[in-house]
Amino acid sequence: MKLSSSFNSQAQTKMKLSNYLFVFALLFSFLLVTSAHTHEDFLQCLTLHSEKDKPISNIIYTPSNSSYSSALNSYVRNTRFSTPSTPKPRVIVTPLGVSQIQETLYCAQKHRIQVRVRSGGHDYEGLSFVSPEPFVILDMINLRNISIDVENNTAWVQSGATLGELYYWIANKSRTLGFPAGVCQTIGVGGHFSGGGYGTLLRKYGLAADNVLDAHLIDVKGRFLNRKSMGEDLFWAIRGGGGASFGVIVSWKIKLVPVPANVTVFTVRKGLEQNATKILHRWQYVAPNIDRDLFIRVILTGSGSVQYGNRSVHASFNSIYLGGKDKLLPLMQKSFPELGLVSEDCTEMSWIQSILYFTGFQNGQSLEVLLNRSLTVNSYKAKSDYVRQPIPEDALEGIWPSFFEEEAQSSVIILNPYGGRMSEISESATPFPHRAGVIGKIQYLVYWSEEGTAATKKHVRWMRRLYTYMAPYVSNSPREAYINYRDLDIGKNNKGRRTSLRQASIWGTKYFKNNFKRLVFVKTVFDPTNFFRNEQSIPPLSF
Ligand code: FDA
Repeated sequence: MKLSSSFNSQAQTKMKLSNYLFVFALLFSFLLVTSAHTHEDFLQCLTLHSEKDKPISNIIYTPSNSSYSSALNSYVRNTRFSTPSTPKPRVIVTPLGVSQIQETLYCAQKHRIQVRVRSGGHDYEGLSFVSPEPFVILDMINLRNISIDVENNTAWVQSGATLGELYYWIANKSRTLGFPAGVCQTIGVGGHFSGGGYGTLLRKYGLAADNVLDAHLIDVKGRFLNRKSMGEDLFWAIRGGGGASFGVIVSWKIKLVPVPANVTVFTVRKGLEQNATKILHRWQYVAPNIDRDLFIRVILTGSGSVQYGNRSVHASFNSIYLGGKDKLLPLMQKSFPELGLVSEDCTEMSWIQSILYFTGFQNGQSLEVLLNRSLTVNSYKAKSDYVRQPIPEDALEGIWPSFFEEEAQSSVIILNPYGGRMSEISESATPFPHRAGVIGKIQYLVYWSEEGTAATKKHVRWMRRLYTYMAPYVSNSPREAYINYRDLDIGKNNKGRRTSLRQASIWGTKYFKNNFKRLVFVKTVFDPTNFFRNEQSIPPLSF
């Protein structure tokens, strides 16, 4: 059954491919005769094509508008990409509905101006709001409706909503339903879901993308598609393959998951003098194999410096258990006694309060803070790795000196355990391939507040040194990486429309392993001219 349905889907896809190639040839000849246009032409086109009762003037920002800067910068989450030399969009469009997205895509293609889609603006390399080519930002900020269906445990959420808004409205309807997505409340649903999206429920329920039931997408031809009309290939691709390569995802239907009325959280901090290295080493054996109701991540930070002495590294074991502490304590005593967890370390609270706890708010804080969209930002550079073999103790010890270097004063390494539900989902079920056999994911982050390229170079060099040091201890062939922790160091596309498959495979297989090939196939069918492109978008096959 499975074989024949997959064959039918491939045959249908091939038919679609030949139809698209024909359309592609027509479109391409049209584009060749279209001379270079300016953003004024683009704006005129938008005015001409907008519906009379929906004038576009209210949703357009150009550099001559006084509110252009705030429209641009309110959702820049990394000041590395808000310098005077950062390329700026010619226009920011903030659509109020589907038709305005369709008009934007039509006029952008007609006038050969690139579109970058932004939902929450958290892209680590700023790809949703910076481009080396003339571009417009299609900002989803006005598209953030959320409707919760408690009876069926589902919700529709628009891409411009934040995770905080989603969690808030779920909690508003039910305290025993949740959703397995990320920790930071300001993250946009659009980028997060389309790149996978994980949070404290990943060992129990997998990724956000694993819990998507349907989606509404506008493709390069301006068609409004749902799961049925886009077909299973495209629906597969946007659940972990990064939305930016395939179209504009307007909204998502998600499956809400049960959470207990009371969960337990704790954070136990150990310094090197309290055996942090040994406990962390042991954590690698325990955390991915323990009861899937328990999620224990580790946050590593350094204190002191070579210059000032008093050096130490701290490992904070930051955890949520989907149950009461009466069950958690014996479980920890049996499986992870080295951590020495005691009742006083534990706090019971509702699942929604645990969201605030992980975001760093005090217990008892009003849930309204989840609706706050502002975020204090700095410059930062991040990278990711996957661990498939436990990192030996002496290799962990080799990391610690890097925390004491001058550039690392604001640096952090976060380890997230996998296992549980993550190991049960096959590598090819979605484009996100990091499943069975993964002990956990590492995220390296370094922040700075100094301005200028010298500061950026210095900190990025520090990050690259650490990444080089880690190479023998993490996954290889490929050295896996998480697309939602975007890293242009691992490779990027050529400027313009064409990049060879071979070149793109360098970074593509790191994010997607073998799924990269299927993503290329889907891209070739749905966007053969590579209109939706960025430095790490999936390239179509060229003929
Ligand atoms: P943004 O708007 O920048 O979009 C990211 C990418 O998706 C861009 O390429 C963009 O063009 C594309 N895109 C966005 N909306 C689209 C749409 N509607 N249709 C098509 N393409 C679209 N991750 C995680 O898994 N768990 C976590 O806990 C965290 N925590 C975290 C904290 C902080 C402070 C940051 C900065 C980031 C994270 N992340 C994370 C990473 C986060 O999941 C990742 O950056 C997401 O892509 C962000 O989605 P946004 O919509 O906010 O970004």
